Amino acid sequence: MLQTARRPTAVSPVSTPPRAAAMTPPPSVRVKGFTRSFGATSVLKDMNLDIQPGEFVALLGASGSGKTTLLRTLAGLDPAPVDQVSTPAARAVVFQDPRLMPWKRVWRNVALGLKGRDIRGKAEDALGEVGLSHRLDAWPATLSGGEAQRAALARALIREPKLLLLDEPFAALDALTRIRMHELVLKLWRAHDPAVLLVTHDVDEAITLADRVLVLDQGRIAAEEVVTLPRPRDVDDAFQAIRRRLLGHLGVTSHDPAVAAELIAFRPRQDAH
Ligand SMILES: Nc1ncnc2c1ncn2[C@@H]1O[C@H](COP(=O)(O)OP(=O)(O)OP(=O)(O)O)[C@@H](O)[C@H]1O
Ligand SMILES: [Mg+2]
Repeated sequence: MLQTARRPTAVSPVSTPPRAAAMTPPPSVRVKGFTRSFGATSVLKDMNLDIQPGEFVALLGASGSGKTTLLRTLAGLDPAPVDQVSTPAARAVVFQDPRLMPWKRVWRNVALGLKGRDIRGKAEDALGEVGLSHRLDAWPATLSGGEAQRAALARALIREPKLLLLDEPFAALDALTRIRMHELVLKLWRAHDPAVLLVTHDVDEAITLADRVLVLDQGRIAAEEVVTLPRPRDVDDAFQAIRRRLLGHLGVTSHDPAVAAELIAFRPRQDAH
């Protein structure tokens, strides 16, 4: 959340009455004054961001603006001071590449790393939720792109994450498959209620899915749009107004969604030293 528009949370000034504080759940994700540098370049600079439990947030930004860097930090893949970055322990990530192990059958990929009883049963349930009950024993190489990405989603969900991190998970899929994946992600989000951070270059995807759309620029959350349109979302006047504002924040002049996505993907990031 933008520093200027912070929602009240339990981690609030000491003057907050105890009863009010108790009523507001703490954020699922809290990033406070976090800086991430590679050599002399600060990719994330004194960054602040809160994500509420169950909130669906989309993150837009130019190529190289630091979206994956932020996501990796929240996933615990890169180190971060605990007083600057806090997340739920139960986290899962889905990347653009489904990253299935080719030598393990689909259900074993989904159950990877799980311990306990009836692991196959749990994998079956998770694969059932993403519509892949019939591909339990398939080899990953025989899956279509959309199926592989659904398997990756099942592998994330089986861990019952409180925070689901998605890094351009639909970018490599065709338009129709992407629409189906949007519906699936919304269904799974409603059923499991994790906080979600979706990184995407696609402004329309962000508005279609998210409660809140953020723009990362110069190492900080430079803009946000809260989207209150009822789901499923049509590309109506209100949708288009949000799209125009977001494209403006991104410095993109074309309002054609396909052209805009290309421009956002390939617009070089301004140096954030
Ligand atoms: N391990 C690393 N070592 C050095 N530089 C890095 C490392 N990881 C990322 N960077 C740099 O940090 C910047 C941000 O990278 P990041 O991958 O977070 O961008 P992004 O917003 O995800 O871009 P894209 O939209 O192209 O995926 C880039 O300039 C990148 O080269
Ligand atoms: Mg990236």
